[in-house]
Amino acid sequence: DWNMPDYIAEAVASIRQQVGDDEVILGLSGGVDSSVAAALIHRAIGDKLTCVFVDHGLLRLDEGKMVMEMFGKNLGVKVIHVDATDQFMGHLAGVTDPEAKRKIIGREFVEVFQAESGKLKNAKWLAQGTIYPDVIESAGKGKKGAHTIKSHHNVGGLPETLNLKLLEPLRELFKDEVRELGAALGLPHEMVYRHPFPGPGLGVRILGEVKKEFADLLRRADAIFIEELRNTKDADGRSWYEKTSQAFAVFLPVKSVGVMGDGRTYEYVVALRAVQTQDFMTAHWAHLPHELLGHVSNRIINEVRGINRVVYDISGKPPATIEWE
Ligand code: XMP
Repeated sequence: DWNMPDYIAEAVASIRQQVGDDEVILGLSGGVDSSVAAALIHRAIGDKLTCVFVDHGLLRLDEGKMVMEMFGKNLGVKVIHVDATDQFMGHLAGVTDPEAKRKIIGREFVEVFQAESGKLKNAKWLAQGTIYPDVIESAGKGKKGAHTIKSHHNVGGLPETLNLKLLEPLRELFKDEVRELGAALGLPHEMVYRHPFPGPGLGVRILGEVKKEFADLLRRADAIFIEELRNTKDADGRSWYEKTSQAFAVFLPVKSVGVMGDGRTYEYVVALRAVQTQDFMTAHWAHLPHELLGHVSNRIINEVRGINRVVYDISGKPPATIEWE
């Protein structure tokens, strides 16, 4: 319940006081939290903030372009774009176990980030988009030693070995407050109200071994699904994108038979997943209209050569998780 311009002024003053004349680096992921943190810190210290955007080759379609345009072009934030696709793909080759994949992606991410930040000799601070629920969650883990079902890698978990002081200006905010703040700082509505995207990205949405070829197919199918969800509008003006908490495509590395023209095809399958949830601990599958699903399926099969079958996931959590890995 605070007044936004006052809040921004206060936060800006406090960041300036904390960092003084030091330089700050921040790992930009394309997600809401790191984006809002970047916009806020940039408002406070301008060019003394440098963002590092690591592309592991497992991002959504045009994610890199979007981030560079929004921050680099529109907001004038210094962003270093690192394309580390080959490095990640190399280390992921032959690895099928979901947790092993997460570990590799997390480890390589830290390595790439560390190498980049090492080049910024004057940086004294590492900024992170940690929000209040993250603070609570990690405190809880420490106390109860809660076991992990999935080890959640996030941009947040960067190493102490960087020898940088931590700057976490969103630590006291809940998600809806972070969104409000982002909008007030001039971030576009679509960015601020984006569905969450896991740190390991498409790495956990390509079942089994990750290959660049699979990531390229999945990116295109996923983009069609999201575009069509955004293009819907119900009586109260809300789209299915807004009415779902998370929606995405999953690549299944199995081939099935299809027909196209006079020919027989033997190609991959994509599953669509869309869920509604308050806290992501439990979730319902979204009852998307059949016409919408049919239209998305037609578009994917017609436009993404290499995929000839689309299925819809109607599993709740529990027992199924939201991601397939
Ligand atoms: P599950 O699949 O466990 O997902 O039902 C619950 C929420 O967590 C996200 N998720 C992750 N986020 N790193 C992340 O940053 C991960 O490894 C990871 N695994 C799952 C998932 O997208 C959903 O929002």
